[in-house]
Amino acid sequence: MGDEIVVIEGDGIGREVIPAAVDVLEAFDLDLEFVAADAGDATKEATGEALPAETYDLAADADATLFGAAGETAADVILPLRDAVGSFVNVRPAKAYPGVDALRPETDVVFLRENTEGVYSGHESRLSEDLSTLTRVVTSPASRELAEYACEFVEDGRGPAGGPEDGFTVAHKANVMRETDGRFRDEVLAVAEEQGVDADEELMDAFATKLPLNPNQYGVIVCPNLAGDVLSDLAAGLVGGLGLLPSANIGHDNALFEPVHGTAPDIAGEGVANPTAAILSAAMLLAHLGHEAEAERVRDAVEGVLSDGPRTGDLGGDATTGEVTDAVLDRL
Ligand code: NAI
Ligand code: MG
Repeated sequence: MGDEIVVIEGDGIGREVIPAAVDVLEAFDLDLEFVAADAGDATKEATGEALPAETYDLAADADATLFGAAGETAADVILPLRDAVGSFVNVRPAKAYPGVDALRPETDVVFLRENTEGVYSGHESRLSEDLSTLTRVVTSPASRELAEYACEFVEDGRGPAGGPEDGFTVAHKANVMRETDGRFRDEVLAVAEEQGVDADEELMDAFATKLPLNPNQYGVIVCPNLAGDVLSDLAAGLVGGLGLLPSANIGHDNALFEPVHGTAPDIAGEGVANPTAAILSAAMLLAHLGHEAEAERVRDAVEGVLSDGPRTGDLGGDATTGEVTDAVLDRL
């Protein structure tokens, strides 16, 4: 039996870049079965729910999900979907490519971001008219699970060079959040030591200065949830644009892949969105399902097109989404 892949285009340019990514997946002779499902602003307008239970269940039962973007309802869609696939780590590579005008062309890093707790665990309260609080949750099991994934990731040679040799950097703020980030840091470093993986640490504020100054000092970076969100967006700024960045939400026997960008309302419907982030997300999906050779071919084809063109408007070209996708398919 083949792998079942749920495809959620969502809103805006999700409807343009996800079909491009599916075309790329279909270029291979793999036993993949695609099931379309709805979510997002338009779905909410039509059904009253941004994420219908049917879509949640499809994603929960599938082998993998490919998601585009949702508009105003993004948080109502993506947070439950990450839960549906049981994701405990958000993998966010930020790599500069030849041919793309990047602020820091030597950047090649991968963030492994804790994906379930920290300050994103949803425990916010309004205690009085002028006082609100947030509870930050850090558990040993979630921290260790992330660290175990990070060890496997670097041992498999999936991380870029930089940082400790064949290891990773953990970014935290344990000097101030001694209990929560202290636990996070201690657990992550303990797992690295148990596994015989080199790990070093950075305070996340200092790291936010050092990364743009010297990106090639870093490779794989392990972070708590909010830090990973912010720092990976910072890295996105170093490599030349949102249209390039893929991501993966990995669970134990399920996963969800999505471009980092949103619905791009300013260009939606014009057929000019850059499909690269969605196509590279599809490459991450292929690798996750065990099709590493095909994933490598997709990455090579995309790199060739970024270097030689055609390019979409965000990269200074005037090609359409379809022309860029066709160029990738030609190279495949
Ligand atoms: P955005 O990523 O949609 O757009 C930011 C800028 O980058 C725009 O100028 C856009 O044209 C450009 N851009 C993004 N992706 C592009 C691509 N593939 N090709 C060419 N240009 C591209 O972020 P923004 O404007 O902050 O949010 C727009 C909507 O998307 C909001 O409603 C927001 O809630 C939603 N959103 C959804 C996300 C998700 O579903 N995961 C993530 C981020 C935003
Ligand atoms: Mg973000």
